Amino acid sequence: MTLYRAMVLDTIGTTIADCELRVDADAGIAVRGGVVLARGPFAEMSARFPDEPVETLADGIMLPGLVDTHLHVPQVRAMGGIGLPLLGWLERYALPEEQRLADRSYAEIIAAEFIDQLLAAGTTTALAFGAHFAPAVDAVFAAAAQAGVRLITGLVVSDRGLPEALLTTPEDAYAQGLELAQKWHGTARLGYAVTPRFSLSASEAMLESCAALQRAVPGAWFTSHINENDQEIAEVKALFGVPDYLASYTDAGLVDGSTVLAHNLHPQPSELGVLVERGAAVAHCPSSNAMLGSGPFGLRQHVDAGVTVSLGTDVGAGVGFSLLSEARHAYMTQRQLGERGYDLSAAQLLYLATTAGARALGLHNRIGDLGEGKQFDAILINPWNNPALMGSLRTSDSAEAALAAVFTLSGPGDVQRVWIGGQQVR
Ligand code: GUN
Ligand code: ZN
Repeated sequence: MTLYRAMVLDTIGTTIADCELRVDADAGIAVRGGVVLARGPFAEMSARFPDEPVETLADGIMLPGLVDTHLHVPQVRAMGGIGLPLLGWLERYALPEEQRLADRSYAEIIAAEFIDQLLAAGTTTALAFGAHFAPAVDAVFAAAAQAGVRLITGLVVSDRGLPEALLTTPEDAYAQGLELAQKWHGTARLGYAVTPRFSLSASEAMLESCAALQRAVPGAWFTSHINENDQEIAEVKALFGVPDYLASYTDAGLVDGSTVLAHNLHPQPSELGVLVERGAAVAHCPSSNAMLGSGPFGLRQHVDAGVTVSLGTDVGAGVGFSLLSEARHAYMTQRQLGERGYDLSAAQLLYLATTAGARALGLHNRIGDLGEGKQFDAILINPWNNPALMGSLRTSDSAEAALAAVFTLSGPGDVQRVWIGGQQVR
């Protein structure tokens, strides 16, 4: 057992609207077998466990491990392409790079970079699009298993509308997905996500094969994109002859409590109702939305409708792996919307970057906060190398203010240590 002594901030509550900051200025967190056994004021905990080793983490702030619910493994090197909307950006930046992952040795390099940057940013759990090539997906599962990361990913499948090298058939998509899931789903800290790229690049038969794969792999997730870009939406509706984008997925037998759909910038009100009925979540990716000019996110609309909203960095359309930065973008986007926006508090930013992701993935009984019984997935923010953060923390007069400074000023350089399931991984 180890007793960690630190300032600990996490959130309690089950929605963005009702979450609250839980502050332990001088906490003792007793961790045994990777799980938080007990938590309380350090004085109490050290009296209760007098003989256990103590790790004192002075000067830092401990937060739960961050949860990224949308990003792309093969786009680690595709960040930084500016000036194009979604479909042009895919063609010019993302898809040429994704084709390079046909080469397993290149895919292994990318997988290593992906895991490294994920952990450097303090992300302990991620739902990520794998690659269009099974050996590349195998490589990222292997890299995640070795690093101890909680990674949910899968073979990205498409059978139209993309360069030939990225296409497959519904039969091969099913067979290769099943093989990957049988090898990795439920092993180490890994899970399988059935991942059609988006309806625009999938036939009805492909989406039906995805639904069949999900039925064949109990506990598998389903993830894709939705309602990101006006041109994309119009083309999907025309291709499928559906009244709204979501119907292209539901008609195929997809969308349930395991579902995380990225973006949803231009939903019909009826689509929000269907997402709520089915318990599906939306991954909000504000920096990507701004970079691609896809539109602002209707956070208020989603919260009012009762849709679970989590955060995604959407690497590589987004600007990096940091969910601290991504939460900042969410905050700024909502501020820019004025009265139509949803003003986010520091507690809500932390909720979005942690518990909201855990809930979107159905993992909230295990991760997302540092309460008793939860996995010890944690990060330590240290301001030593960030004078602006250091200065703001010195003058902040409350934990809420300190957390606001962290979200305003921090990035991967400030994540000093990372634990997953009690294991220090960085
Ligand atoms: N829609 C389909 N593929 C992608 C992608 O790679 N990035 C984003 N942002 N949207 C997509
Ligand atoms: Zn994406």
